[in-house]
Amino acid sequence: MANVTVIGAQWGDEGKGKIIDWLANRAEMVVRFQGGNNAGHTIVVGDKTYKLSLLPSGVVQGKRSIIGNGVVVDPWSLLDEIARVSAAGLKITPEILVLAENAVLVLPLHRELDAMREEAAAQKIGTTKRGIGPAYEDKVGRRALRAIDLMDPATLPGKIERLLAHHNVLRRGFGHPHADADALLKALSEIAPKITPFLGSSWRELDAAKRAGKRVLFEGAQAVLLDIDHGTYPFVTSSNTVAGQAAAGSGVSPRDIGTVLGIVKSYTTRVGEGPFPTELKDDTGERLGARGNEFGTVTGRKRRCGWFDAVLVRQTVITGGVDGIALTKLDVLDGFETIKIATHYELEGKKFDHLPADANLQARIKPVYESLEGWSESTRGARSWAQLPANAIKYVRRIEELIGAQVALLSTSPDRDDTITVKDPFVGR
Ligand code: GDP
Ligand code: IMO
Ligand code: MG
Repeated sequence: MANVTVIGAQWGDEGKGKIIDWLANRAEMVVRFQGGNNAGHTIVVGDKTYKLSLLPSGVVQGKRSIIGNGVVVDPWSLLDEIARVSAAGLKITPEILVLAENAVLVLPLHRELDAMREEAAAQKIGTTKRGIGPAYEDKVGRRALRAIDLMDPATLPGKIERLLAHHNVLRRGFGHPHADADALLKALSEIAPKITPFLGSSWRELDAAKRAGKRVLFEGAQAVLLDIDHGTYPFVTSSNTVAGQAAAGSGVSPRDIGTVLGIVKSYTTRVGEGPFPTELKDDTGERLGARGNEFGTVTGRKRRCGWFDAVLVRQTVITGGVDGIALTKLDVLDGFETIKIATHYELEGKKFDHLPADANLQARIKPVYESLEGWSESTRGARSWAQLPANAIKYVRRIEELIGAQVALLSTSPDRDDTITVKDPFVGR
């Protein structure tokens, strides 16, 4: 099966949505396998812009789209999103969209707990306040409600009681009133008939696709540096974002996830708190943010910006399982006289060729840069390698050398078609 798995290789917002939409043209199925509506994937097609949080990016091209079991799903948010994209002209029916029956639900009490914690914390994570962390906690704690539970609302009261026994203790601790069990039951009973038509089996869909020789595209959200195991803990999201999760989060063999494409921005950004060695809190950082339009898709927060950090991406290529990369937003660097790349870190005379696991060290290490000559020409909208200035090519080649992975795709604008193919990811590793 010539499948492709797309993951973010930095701190998110690398342009996964754009690349997945572009690849979806040649896939028959698109599958989300982790995260929830903390994701914001932007797809630009001509004069239309779609912002997707829960819906797999395959819906833009009308491809069969699966929300896998590894995703945590806020059903109200899902319906809002369906309404929003339907108004923009997309058709979201049970023929297009399947929601895994064993996916965990994000409830209003998860959003509330997320917000209570963020507000009370001295050291905030800077979450999206969508309830993602609390929902995954309940999943692992074996007390979560799942999509399948909506099929039989008569069983909900007992499940809600079990869940609230846990949550009400936490809420009391924060000085908040208990959650209203009756209101939750009513809300879930009301939404159930709107969600259940989409329920299905992710693993069976994928098994059927495999038997029929169909191509599947696995869509990651967030990115490896936000991975609960491999990211900058505790400033991470609450799921595994590495390629291996595509298998567990959808119900396929790890052998069937295909070529792993890491999406890499030509510089670095991060939303929320946490270490960021190459962050630029100066005019250059502002310039990157302004040229790259670096504002969060979900929360509208300003993204922190900095130079490309080759140490981080060299590491995420390994931990994420990346076979090749899609390098995005090269056009944002147009016009910079000098462009810097961090090649390693230093602290108190000691050299680091990787990001140390200790959060304290992560906050203190200093990047060591090499400088490359920029280019004054525009790369925006370039659709062939030949259209790129020599210094832009040098920059790309140097990144490949430093991270130990090759560029398969290069993106030069938000638009779907402004993409250069160097090596077709569907052809294999
Ligand atoms: P995702 O979360 O990884 O899907 O990325 P987001 O959609 O949150 O953020 C990426 C932003 O960059 C979006 O606004 C895209 O439209 C935009 N974008 C993607 N690729 C390019 C590119 O090559 N050049 C420019 N200038 N913008 C891009
Ligand atoms: P996409 O898929 C960038 C960040 C939040 C916060 C941390 C934890 O669009 O790349 P959470 O709400 O998940 O508990 O927040 O993770 N974060 C993202 N940053 N892009 C995303 O998704 C993100 N999803 C979560 O800002 O720092
Ligand atoms: Mg995003």
